[in-house]
Amino acid sequence: MCGIIGYLGYREAYPILISGLKKLEYRGYDSSGIAVFFENGYNLYKTKGRVHELEQKISSYRIKIKGTMGIGHTRWATHGIPDNINAHPHVSNSNELIMIHNGIIENYYAIKIILLKNGFTFKSKTDTEVLVNLIEYIKEENKLSLKEAVRISLNEIVGAYSIAIVEKSHPETIVIAKLGSPLSLGINEKEFFVSSDPISFIDYTKNVLYLKDGEMAILKKGKELDLRKIIDNHRLNPIIKQLKINLKEIEKGKYKYFMLKEIYEQPKTILDTLRGRLLIPEKIICINGIESNKNIFINAKCITIVACGTSWHASLIGEYLLEELARVRVEVEYASEFRYRNPIVGEKDIVIVISQSGETADTLAALKLAKKKGAFVFGICNVVGSSIARNVDAGAYTHAGPEISVASTKAFTAQITVLILLALIIGRYKSTINENRYKFLCEELGSIPEKVDYVLKTDDIIKKISQIYHNVNNFLYLGRGINFPVALEGALKLKEISYLHAEGYPAAEMKHGPIALVDETMPVFVIATKKGYYNKIIGNIQEIKARKGKIIAIVNEGDIQVNMLADHVIKIPNISEIFSPLITVIPLQLFAYQIAYIRGKNVDQPRNLAKSVTVE
Ligand code: M6R
Repeated sequence: MCGIIGYLGYREAYPILISGLKKLEYRGYDSSGIAVFFENGYNLYKTKGRVHELEQKISSYRIKIKGTMGIGHTRWATHGIPDNINAHPHVSNSNELIMIHNGIIENYYAIKIILLKNGFTFKSKTDTEVLVNLIEYIKEENKLSLKEAVRISLNEIVGAYSIAIVEKSHPETIVIAKLGSPLSLGINEKEFFVSSDPISFIDYTKNVLYLKDGEMAILKKGKELDLRKIIDNHRLNPIIKQLKINLKEIEKGKYKYFMLKEIYEQPKTILDTLRGRLLIPEKIICINGIESNKNIFINAKCITIVACGTSWHASLIGEYLLEELARVRVEVEYASEFRYRNPIVGEKDIVIVISQSGETADTLAALKLAKKKGAFVFGICNVVGSSIARNVDAGAYTHAGPEISVASTKAFTAQITVLILLALIIGRYKSTINENRYKFLCEELGSIPEKVDYVLKTDDIIKKISQIYHNVNNFLYLGRGINFPVALEGALKLKEISYLHAEGYPAAEMKHGPIALVDETMPVFVIATKKGYYNKIIGNIQEIKARKGKIIAIVNEGDIQVNMLADHVIKIPNISEIFSPLITVIPLQLFAYQIAYIRGKNVDQPRNLAKSVTVE
């Protein structure tokens, strides 16, 4: 995780670094720092805490930071607690090299021992300080240029990195390199912008180069970009792309938090995911990446879906959808588990990887493993041009637009929407859905954005329920069938932004253990839609009521039975059960938001988390 940034050009670097770092805070926000260079020197400031705290600290010194070249960092701690010393940039022993880093150097300890034996000392607990000193050691021992010392050092490294490094005595050059962690370069005629994510330099340029793994670049003031392979110094031709981001999408607008904005965007984002893919009058569904690999999808005996976190919950929903509509066996795996097993995946198999960011380290590693084993890998990603999107055999973007809040909401519903389309397309190819049902489902799919809009209007009821329960410490979330993963997702949302304990469970499993937790203080969310396992769910509600638990039920309009049993009901429109997760999850997202808000939490940037988990 962590966000890195750099600027080299003719403008003042400091404001560019600070505003860019603020846009990268979704990647980590426990400490931050900058270094701005001038002839033969630099100003370096770092602090525990957020970028605005760094800014305040600097302005309290009443100095003007001048210089047209600089680097900056916002951290998500891996090695060493968040404090002023472990914050980046890190400086080598001679005070000559200054570096920022995103990623993990796995063999840092062995290198540290060697450096200690050679007289090096360390102030921080970070792997980054080890790497910057390794570069210094190799540079000095072999009398090398910075570029060559970086290249040789990186060939000794095991792990993941994106780095930017500057030599104090040559403040006209930045060397950057990437392996595993994202790194993009914005390019204008006389300036370079380095960043973990191009959203931080979109105000200045739309020309972007995404560095690939194993590449490094030497950026010199007034000179052409010099792109090289780290392994053998081979010179490469840079491929510059045009960024397509709408600035409005990365602003909060009238909302207090991005999470609320993103929840409210869902009618539009679901429509955007469907746009050009679902033609309602003709009842045609088409996704190019599927169409051009039609036979692979028809012949697959098994589909494995691999993801993490919320994307893993969407994958579980995908399992129900694909099994129901396309009658194909589906396995869902946590990417972090899949990559370290010896999974049974072969040449005729399909592996679907799902990731909002497209940068999750475990998902990317699982993708590479699946490809190595010969599987056909299909990606469902939100971030266009991300590492996962670039590495799959084929894929479909979710088109949900930038998701800034750490808690994923609109990306989740967009992922489910793609999975619905996928299941319907394969079902049609294989004739596992009869024509009438297919046509009905196409029609109904088109009505979902409107139904989501309707559910968003339940926010006032949810606010009232949140007022009643915001002081409670434990919550249960129950669902059955395709709504069981929604229960997991509801619990995850509450945990990650409110720091309250919540568990999602298949409703019927409750009596095998968790029911012991239920007493008069325990609120239990129950997804009790009419179409699914309604009578069974009523039985489960009775079991909770008998133990005095408080029921908050999500029911369909017109429901009578649950309405009579539950302490609170949230009414949602009727919809086919297989589409219901797109609707049932909305009140759970709103509830998590309201509770976190009432409890005064930083909704968009919860403690200990980061938006893109680029370390394993
Ligand atoms: O970018 P990805 O979809 O690969 O991210 C996976 C998880 O890290 C992510 O869904 C995480 O669980 C969210 N914070 C959940 O809200």
